[in-house]
Amino acid sequence: MRETASVKSADSDIVKIVQLTDLHIFDDPNGTLLGVVTADSFQAVLNEISAMTGDNEPDLILVTGDISQDYSEGSYRRFASMMRQVEKPMFWLPGNHDDGPLMYRIFPDLGLSIARQIFCNNWQIVMLNTQVYSNPCGYLPADQFEFLTQCLESHRDMNTLICIHHNTFRVNSAWLDQHYLKNADELTGVLHHYPNVRCVLCGHVHQVTDVVHDHIRYISSPATSIQFLPDSDSFGLDSAEPGWRELTLHRDGSFETTVKRLHSGLYVPDYASLGY
Ligand SMILES: [Fe+2]
Repeated sequence: MRETASVKSADSDIVKIVQLTDLHIFDDPNGTLLGVVTADSFQAVLNEISAMTGDNEPDLILVTGDISQDYSEGSYRRFASMMRQVEKPMFWLPGNHDDGPLMYRIFPDLGLSIARQIFCNNWQIVMLNTQVYSNPCGYLPADQFEFLTQCLESHRDMNTLICIHHNTFRVNSAWLDQHYLKNADELTGVLHHYPNVRCVLCGHVHQVTDVVHDHIRYISSPATSIQFLPDSDSFGLDSAEPGWRELTLHRDGSFETTVKRLHSGLYVPDYASLGY
């Protein structure tokens, strides 16, 4: 299966994207993460995405890791069948709670693309794998840097959006910050040389952050499952509801982005939890 993909946007001047992240779903449809049935919260988010019509309809979906909570093949089969509801091109990368090798092996048979470089209008989207197998921290190995540099060098004329699972910058939470992207300096060092890189989009921190470094915005997004309490050195859960991010990319390299959340009152986690 091809590692590159091209997506035709509804409007040739803009690319509309929905980012979904940190689903943490299980083989068991009723599996709970700290009190939240994660397949249910993900389904509720998908219902919102499917209901988008006209100008709001996304051209493509990006899923930035932690699709599974139990590393099971069943959780990925569930993900594939749930995603069919949206009927949009979807691209993904693994998070620390995923079994990356298993995903690359079975996703083609589930009808899911394994493309890591996606073209839409004059934008390229590069999906990088920061997963360190069975370790919560992130690291970009040499082969990922090689792939990234290849994408950047061969398309200096295109605006670039990079997706990774782990956060490049710490988020002021000691318990989470020990698991950020360990070689973040190496990444920012490379990206510094490419003015056409506009944004680095991540998951992992289950909260919204937005940092500008050099000419690039580094953005994280809410999970479709549980939300972590911002600015907390020890583990804590936030009362914000599951959510997603929308981005509108323009030809001149500018973009707008907004965070949307459910307003259901249904997905309340167990605030007494001490960790996960
Ligand atoms: Fe996560």
